Amino acid sequence: MAAASAWIVALALVAALCCSPAIADEHDHKYDHGEELVLWMNTVGPYHNRQETYSFFTLPFCKGPKKAISHHHETIGENLQGVSLQFSGLDMKFGINVPTTEFCSVELTEKKYKAFRYAIKNHYWYQMYLDDLPMWALVGDFGAGHNDKERSTDTMFIWTHKKFDVGVNGNRIVDVNVTTGKRVPLKPGITLHFTYEVNFKQSKVSFDKRFDKYLDPHFFQHRIHWFSIFNSFMMVIFLVGLVTMILMRTLRKDFVRYSKDNELDDIERDLGDEYGWKQVHGDVFRPPDNVMLFSALVGTGYQIAFVALCVILFVIMGDLYTERGSVLTTAIFVYAATSPVNGYFGGGLYARLKGTQWIKQTLLSALLMPAVVSTAILLVNFVAIYYNASRAIPFTTMLVVVCIWLFVVLPLTLVGAVLGRNLAGTMDIPCRINPVPRPIPEKKWFMHRWVISLLGGLLPFGSIFIEIYFVFTSFWAYKVYYVYGFMLLVFLILTIVTVCVTVVCTYFLLNSEDYRWHWTAFLSGASVALYVYMYSFYYYVMKTKMSGAFQTTFYFGYSALFALVVGLMCGTFGYAGSSVFVYRIYKNLKLD
Ligand SMILES: *[C@@H]1O[C@H](CO)[C@@H](O)[C@H](O)[C@H]1NC(C)=O
Repeated sequence: MAAASAWIVALALVAALCCSPAIADEHDHKYDHGEELVLWMNTVGPYHNRQETYSFFTLPFCKGPKKAISHHHETIGENLQGVSLQFSGLDMKFGINVPTTEFCSVELTEKKYKAFRYAIKNHYWYQMYLDDLPMWALVGDFGAGHNDKERSTDTMFIWTHKKFDVGVNGNRIVDVNVTTGKRVPLKPGITLHFTYEVNFKQSKVSFDKRFDKYLDPHFFQHRIHWFSIFNSFMMVIFLVGLVTMILMRTLRKDFVRYSKDNELDDIERDLGDEYGWKQVHGDVFRPPDNVMLFSALVGTGYQIAFVALCVILFVIMGDLYTERGSVLTTAIFVYAATSPVNGYFGGGLYARLKGTQWIKQTLLSALLMPAVVSTAILLVNFVAIYYNASRAIPFTTMLVVVCIWLFVVLPLTLVGAVLGRNLAGTMDIPCRINPVPRPIPEKKWFMHRWVISLLGGLLPFGSIFIEIYFVFTSFWAYKVYYVYGFMLLVFLILTIVTVCVTVVCTYFLLNSEDYRWHWTAFLSGASVALYVYMYSFYYYVMKTKMSGAFQTTFYFGYSALFALVVGLMCGTFGYAGSSVFVYRIYKNLKLD
């Protein structure tokens, strides 16, 4: 056990090392007077769906006259998240104001007119970056009136002027605002003259605090959020108390009963006075069906839990949310670096459950998550390519991801599996396994293992659904998720609740003399995925204004992935908790 924990610490160090280059990549954000500033145009897309984005220049905008582009760094996370930075061509120098200047013009052919019209009608807005600070502006505007029904779409207007206000503190940029102006009615055949202006102002905002204006404490630290955390916390205390009390009492009673039984003579016992979990002692340690898949799922679940914990901790320590794509990049690196966790737990479990084809099992473990994730992403990607969205992942990025899998994930999983087989591959089970499986008695419908599995996810879901609302809102709408402290708490609460609930489920199952607890324990944790996915339907209908094939595929594809990840993790928590429980109770059993 000590070896294993030392090894895990070593692993965390490796993970930290692997991530640091990805975290510290940006230039130092210090400028001399007159030094070049680069305005990056990012994406344009409908206001109502943050995740549907197209490269800015897919709309017939034009670039400024400046051609020289200073160095720019892109990370895998950025590419996977559909960031597509392109130089705007605008000439800007630190500390030097620019009066209103025309930088380019566009003659509106029928085609360009239609493109703008479509964009304005769908409330498109675009995003820009100056010194890593994001800015947003609407493409245009139409009619008068308060909502879409009152407005007429006959006259559309496009904003052709951009005014940049740059707040400067010493030699650093601490604040940027963009204001659009000059509302030009959109007509085919006219020429649009795009202008810009830059004003520098002294600002008192400190450099560390410059991202604070993008955060929304009123939203994230709303009373409801605190309340739900408190609520879940109380639930945990209550649940843990309840579970320990019930189990202690019933188990003690069971043990007393069983030891009394031992004193009775054989004839009396043969009359069938015994019932309950003791009856299946010859079968509980029988390996489940589909051992290979089972251990691959559990191994993957351990890895996901580990990745989630590491990423949350890294983000809390490094305020990573301020950098584009860095959370995702970190997650990918941590995932690659923690592959041994998957191999270790999966391989160890497989060996304990008497599996023999361990190479095949390791391959399955290493492939499971990447295969599922890439299938989902590729599907969404095809739709994205069809709609020409910037979401389409560049080929080189895909190649990098494949290489990471082949040269990092696979070998590390193998190493983990070898370690797992040797260090955790044997277990002295407290009861012998009967050669012939015991028939499973008839039981009430609610004791059926599928029903138990299905109900198991309900309470864990209850403890996280408020947090899921916040996570979804920051993913699908324009909010930066930054309350990772909350997330850590919810993660811990979820772990405890899942373990408690599955232990109770396992007890009920075994007590109904059904020994197939491995899968039931796993599934009763994993069924939280089902509820999360159902919740995503509710969220789609009630909270978003998405429509169309692209957005729908995108939304439900990614929600399914999210639900699956949560499910695998909870399933593993459930199984881990239950196996400790099962081992404990049968160890204390006095067998004749
Ligand atoms: C940007 O806008 C905010 C809010 O209107 C204002 O407080 C801030 O001073 C502006 N910054 C600059 C540099 O003009």
